Amino acid sequence: MAAEAVKPRTPVAMVTGGNSPLGRAVIARLLANGYAVAGIDDNPTDLLGGQHLVLVGDMGTEHDSRLAISQTINTFGRLDSAVLLADIGGSRALNVPGTVAEGEHLLARNLNSIALGIQAAVEGLSLDGHRSIVATASVAGLLADPGNWAYHASKIAMIDLVRSSALTYAARGIRVNNVASGLVRADDPNENPVAQTFGRDFSRRIPLCRLAEPAEIAEVIAFLISPAASYVTGTTLAVDGGLTASAGLVF
Ligand SMILES: NC(=O)c1ccc[n+]([C@@H]2O[C@H](COP(=O)([O-])OP(=O)(O)OC[C@H]3O[C@@H](n4cnc5c(N)ncnc54)[C@H](O)[C@@H]3O)[C@@H](O)[C@H]2O)c1
Repeated sequence: MAAEAVKPRTPVAMVTGGNSPLGRAVIARLLANGYAVAGIDDNPTDLLGGQHLVLVGDMGTEHDSRLAISQTINTFGRLDSAVLLADIGGSRALNVPGTVAEGEHLLARNLNSIALGIQAAVEGLSLDGHRSIVATASVAGLLADPGNWAYHASKIAMIDLVRSSALTYAARGIRVNNVASGLVRADDPNENPVAQTFGRDFSRRIPLCRLAEPAEIAEVIAFLISPAASYVTGTTLAVDGGLTASAGLVF
């Protein structure tokens, strides 16, 4: 898709995993907030119009991560923020043969996508911009469930990767944060099978009694990358309807 030229100070964001339900919500929120946006995914995307560039790439490789940043800058002239959503989910229980090898793949791919995304974005962030990066951990990085061990482990690691990156790049004025999203409602039966299968029962454990809307997570991500969050770095903000505040007892 050909992207239009932008005014010099239009803020520019790249969103990895842009073809996901949350990615689409984040892109829509940022476009509405006046950003030009590059959406990157390893699946061809059919996304929103406006100041929006669609790139196909694998953020788990150094080559594609760097290319995504340089193409964004070549198109829009600058880069202010990166939102790193790209990941793969779902791992089988440890008591299933072969699960460790599968988990190793998931762990490496999810961590590489974030680590390489941060590394590449840092080099591209404009010096006169608000220089911020947000990744998506999950309540799965704060609480565990049976079975899905490698996904949980990748999200826990992501929390520390974000802390460490925030410390590494603070002196350069770059903020790095994480959103730990609760389970997000999905309308499309092909999307978010966990929400489709377990959403109704799981909602009973959530103090706000429902799953998240994609737009509610996107709103917090948009805040965290914006200058309004200028003193926030190295944190993981739970956006989970109160799930992780609760010990589970009901009186
Ligand atoms: N949906 C939820 O309920 C939920 C809850 C908590 C956290 N999250 C997190 O939010 C983010 C988005 O979630 P979602 O459910 O909307 O996404 P999703 O899992 O439906 O889609 C992820 C997208 O990222 C792409 N992708 C994966 N690896 C990639 C790579 N290496 N390079 C480029 N693209 C890649 C996939 O093709 C896919 O389009 C994820 O990080 C997820 O862990 C989601």
